[in-house]
Amino acid sequence: MKKTCLAIAALALAVSLTACGEDQGTSSGGDPTTGGGGDELITVGFVAVGPEGAWRQANEQNMQDTFTKEAGFDLKYAPATNLDQKSQIDAFTSFVDEGVDVILLSATEGSGWEASLERAQEAEIPVILIDRGIEPDRTDLYVTRIAPDNVVVAKGVAEWAVSQCGDSCNYFTLEGPAGVSVVNERNTGWDEVASANPQLKKVGAQTANWSTDEAKSVFETVLKSNSNNIQIVFAQNDEMGLGAVQAVEEAGLTPGVDVKIATIDGTENALKALADGKLSFVAEYNPLFGETALDVVRKALAGEAVESYIIVPSTTFDSPEAAAAALPERKY
Ligand code: AHR
Repeated sequence: MKKTCLAIAALALAVSLTACGEDQGTSSGGDPTTGGGGDELITVGFVAVGPEGAWRQANEQNMQDTFTKEAGFDLKYAPATNLDQKSQIDAFTSFVDEGVDVILLSATEGSGWEASLERAQEAEIPVILIDRGIEPDRTDLYVTRIAPDNVVVAKGVAEWAVSQCGDSCNYFTLEGPAGVSVVNERNTGWDEVASANPQLKKVGAQTANWSTDEAKSVFETVLKSNSNNIQIVFAQNDEMGLGAVQAVEEAGLTPGVDVKIATIDGTENALKALADGKLSFVAEYNPLFGETALDVVRKALAGEAVESYIIVPSTTFDSPEAAAAALPERKY
């Protein structure tokens, strides 16, 4: 039902934009299903996160490299101000008022989006979630979410931890910021495996806000307060895992031997650290899905049915050899 309504809305949108493009003075007067044709461009409002780390840089650059004018798009990139959700909501509202053809949203916060999404729906502007989900998950208010499956990725990390643990091991989790959808999803995936494997003993969890420096500081304290008796770290992104490596070395311990650190993202620095034996496991969370997003935009504007969650394939790296072999071909 939802997809049919959307199809009608998108068709109406396509017709109205075609009929009224000149009157509105927008750049999207042409057929929004074909990338313009001639000088008509599809206007895309990208409500983005902005500077946050290597993964985000790769993801948002890939979007900008994909939605080009040559491909028929006018991409309006709107990064958040200091990760602030209000700046994102303001940008979202501006895009709705401007009458863009479609909005891409990478939410800095999981909650607080319903009013904005309802406004976009009233304006018949399709919204596509990039990477981050929203809570509650109002699938009636957006076309689809495009991301790797955080629950599955985190389950893979936990299953690796089980394989390393033996009869008993203490672990600590370095989390991303509270309230971010992917943090909750990664905890869900890890906990699903850990709850079935009591040999994994949780010492604690704390946010280090995706930051290497903050993760180093947090984990230094954790090691001191647990007499260095931590065998595994689940770092929910690469930067925090690299911070944990620094903390382990500061404590006079050997990363990869005394403490095994697993991370999520698969950025170049993490694979280099894995190749050097400093990290022990890296789960890719593939950021390069601009082409998928472009295909979804065309389908949404053409009123074609789209899955409500498009999973981006991601791999894992479990040895220095695997990392070294992958590094020459890596694109982020
Ligand atoms: O939402 C994806 C997460 O956000 C990445 O794992 C992390 O590096 C980024 O900051």
